[in-house]
Amino acid sequence: MPRDSVFDHDEETAGESEARLASVFDTAADGMVVINDRGLVLAFNKACERLFGFEAAELLGCNVSRIMPDEYAAVHDHYLNNYLETGVKKIIGIGREVQGRHKDGTVFPIELSVGEASTPVGRQFIGILRDLRPRKQIEDRLSKTQAQLLHVTRISALDEMGAAIAHELNQPLTAVLLYLQTVSRKARSDDTLDPFILDVIGKAVREAERASEIIQRMRQLVEKKAPERQMVDVAELVRNCLEMAELGSGDGSSFLHSELEDDLPLLPADPVQIRQILINLLRNAREAVADLPVREVTLSVGRNEDKLEFRVQDNGPGVPDELVEGLFRAFTGVKEKGVGLGLAISRSIAQNHGGDLKLEEAPKGCGASFLLTLPVDPPNDGALQSRTEQTTDDHLGEE
Ligand SMILES: Nc1ncnc2c1ncn2[C@@H]1O[C@H](COP(=O)(O)OP(=O)(O)OP(=O)(O)O)[C@@H](O)[C@H]1O
Ligand SMILES: [Mg+2]
Repeated sequence: MPRDSVFDHDEETAGESEARLASVFDTAADGMVVINDRGLVLAFNKACERLFGFEAAELLGCNVSRIMPDEYAAVHDHYLNNYLETGVKKIIGIGREVQGRHKDGTVFPIELSVGEASTPVGRQFIGILRDLRPRKQIEDRLSKTQAQLLHVTRISALDEMGAAIAHELNQPLTAVLLYLQTVSRKARSDDTLDPFILDVIGKAVREAERASEIIQRMRQLVEKKAPERQMVDVAELVRNCLEMAELGSGDGSSFLHSELEDDLPLLPADPVQIRQILINLLRNAREAVADLPVREVTLSVGRNEDKLEFRVQDNGPGVPDELVEGLFRAFTGVKEKGVGLGLAISRSIAQNHGGDLKLEEAPKGCGASFLLTLPVDPPNDGALQSRTEQTTDDHLGEE
């Protein structure tokens, strides 16, 4: 048998064996503490020193309850006595999760298993301790990841369902709208009809139009159409958006302003889609300041490295706290008239362009600020149209 085998008792002196045991004791990865039948610490290994922040010398001869939180410490002696008197094991040979206390007072979970030994000087107990914090952290991360995964799966199921519903409802809804419009036109040309019926038909047409608009916008959100990029003149685009956002503001006085950096480059983007984002931001801002005596809405554009930054700021009350978290999800909003799709569609368009749309942090009461970033040199995601953007009157800009 080789000289250094642990079974090689005969040729080994007691001193050698003890030295080897001490070395094993101190190099063990797990904490090890030996106590006597009165709960006093007889040995405390290096792993325990690291775990609890005490040096062995500080604890030798002290009650082991010093490395336990108060509620455990109070009952530990009682457990020990109970076992010594009755022989009923609560923990020995079983192992369980308990709490330990670091020298600095931090309480943390540990896995404890206890063995016992009869020695010439009485019974001794050996506790083996493992820090459970790393495991708990991994478990926490795992359960968070699982929750996120579930969320994503549900969202993508909803996306699919939304697309299917939008598709299926589109045709019957268009038919209902056409029938109603036909009846409405016919009824208006017939003077004998009750004005109440005319009024109701008019309301039905408006509601059907609204439902149809929601469906169209939902389809936009889900379809994620690739942008049809053109080289867009930013100054022209901004002017055009301000005009459109002002439509229907009623009082004729303009409080929408723009600030453009000099020498902005042409922007390779789908002008119709970018206009849709900016008009929604400007309208949201306009609505947020509608009741204020002094109203200010500014659209500023500047270049930041390889991106153009479009910032829409207003001096309204800011986005309500309870909306901030889900602001870019569909159907978020508190407006009576709005659907709550504007920002969701806008962000999806921005991301489709390789950019992003964010709500910026603003001090309370300083209004809201939305930042749209778009790359000046986007990845090749579709053919770039050769002509520069022409200003077109598209229906998206109208109320
Ligand atoms: N500038 C702003 N200041 C304060 N609240 C805002 C601002 N912009 C957006 N919000 C809040 O965020 C909500 C969501 O805006 P979003 O544009 O997505 O939907 P909407 O304007 O309600 O409806 P629509 O689909 O017609 O755009 C708004 O209803 C409003 O409560
Ligand atoms: Mg909106």
